[in-house]
Amino acid sequence: MRTVTVNSGNYQVLIGPGLLNAAGEYIAQAVRGRRCAVVTDDRVGPLYAQRLVDSLEKAGIRADTFAFPNGEKSKTLSTFARAVEFFAGRELTRSDFVVALGGGVAGDLAGFAAAAYMRGVDCVQIPTTLLAAVDSSVGGKTAVDLPMGKNLVGAFHQPRLVLCDTEIIARLPEALLRDGAAEMIKCGVLRDEALFNAMADGSWRENLEDAIARCVSIKRDYVDEDEFDNGARQFLNLGHTFGHAVEKSTDFSLSHGQCVAIGMVMAFRAAGLDGAPLLRALNACGLPTASPCTLDELCAAAMLDKKRRGGTVTLVLPEKIGKCYLQRVNVSELRDWFARGMGESPCA
Ligand code: GLY
Repeated sequence: MRTVTVNSGNYQVLIGPGLLNAAGEYIAQAVRGRRCAVVTDDRVGPLYAQRLVDSLEKAGIRADTFAFPNGEKSKTLSTFARAVEFFAGRELTRSDFVVALGGGVAGDLAGFAAAAYMRGVDCVQIPTTLLAAVDSSVGGKTAVDLPMGKNLVGAFHQPRLVLCDTEIIARLPEALLRDGAAEMIKCGVLRDEALFNAMADGSWRENLEDAIARCVSIKRDYVDEDEFDNGARQFLNLGHTFGHAVEKSTDFSLSHGQCVAIGMVMAFRAAGLDGAPLLRALNACGLPTASPCTLDELCAAAMLDKKRRGGTVTLVLPEKIGKCYLQRVNVSELRDWFARGMGESPCA
């Protein structure tokens, strides 16, 4: 088992096999409360919630399960309201806690409900997708979507503990592994050439625990430096400004990981770099590399990006594999950057 300690919030991320069955004993050490609500969806819940509840009960913790319909469409204020009303209906108190069991939607929703209920109760994250394991379960970003955009209402609320059971992750369908692989390649491009090479040659699959731990450590370093996302944490947005525009323009028909993959290719081109090593890694992981959208579509979507701050957007651009830099650009220049990213002349 690997342990990564996050200093912002002072909690541990445990990565290894069998952690779901042992969850109760780890959770009992990390939180004070002896009652909790498990927040999950109707796809993950039937697979894993009972094992979690049994383990919690063995550790003397009473758990009630709140399950919502699977998918991003549930990440709304109305599901959030149902969750906190469920907590209140079960008479959870200030010292009780919430366990998020699932992928990014469950983690974001449960985390935000924990952040708001009684002005904040403890939260434990148990990610069951690779994407959630390497990214969204760590770092305390929680949110729900509004009709105007994703993650527009939320809070920073660091978990008390993250348990990543690699047996669950290893059994995921290929599409969900690919989605997480995009974020892992991102970590490699940011600051870990050896991880990048492991993604490109496929050896990450045999060393899943190690690969996840390296990604979590990289994310931890950025979060510890800049918990509230005003500086270094923005590096984690590599491929995301371009990728979110693709996501929006395709009406979310491509997955987040697929869009980040396309966004990273665009970032390499925008930086004027040969993206051949990146293309090899993305191909090896079965990820797409070309945007299906027009420049106009992408630019219109980019103008609505929530990462825009006033009149500027911070792009993350690669210098080489393992090293990137932040480039603050005026929104009036964004079209040129997108044009470069698509391999078009900026003046076209
Ligand atoms: N997913 C990027 C971050 O947590 O900052």
